[in-house]
Amino acid sequence: MSPAAIDVDALVQAAHGARKNAHAPYSHYQVGAAVLAADGRVFVGANVENASYGLALCAERSAVAAAVVAGARRLLACAVVTATAPPASPCGMCRQTLAEFGNDDLRVILENDSGARDETTLGALLPRAFRGDALT
Ligand code: THU
Repeated sequence: MSPAAIDVDALVQAAHGARKNAHAPYSHYQVGAAVLAADGRVFVGANVENASYGLALCAERSAVAAAVVAGARRLLACAVVTATAPPASPCGMCRQTLAEFGNDDLRVILENDSGARDETTLGALLPRAFRGDALT
């Protein structure tokens, strides 16, 4: 699937749906994410917080984990939904996690609950990412 052929609206809707299941009783900041795998499958995630605050799992990383567990290791796009204006973008840890499974042209779509949308790429968010090929 070429990046241009991606159904961005469907991916964003999946992230909106996942956000409803966020477990964020401490920050009250619900995040939903959806990643599109190269085989066309979509995997969703939401942030999962813990009474031990530092254990919080971000929505993006929970979506990536769902993809990997299902055998999808090449990701083409990631949608992130928050209530923030302008729409918030992934934290550094999530950018690095996406870089493990996506190229610089991985599309990152950001939307808030008012429908404001922005789009960028992983390469723009994390230039010169460290990847496993540096280790070989
Ligand atoms: N959070 C995400 O889910 N994704 C990000 O990229 C940034 C932050 C979550 C973690 C925590 O549950 C809440 O947002 C506040 O930091």
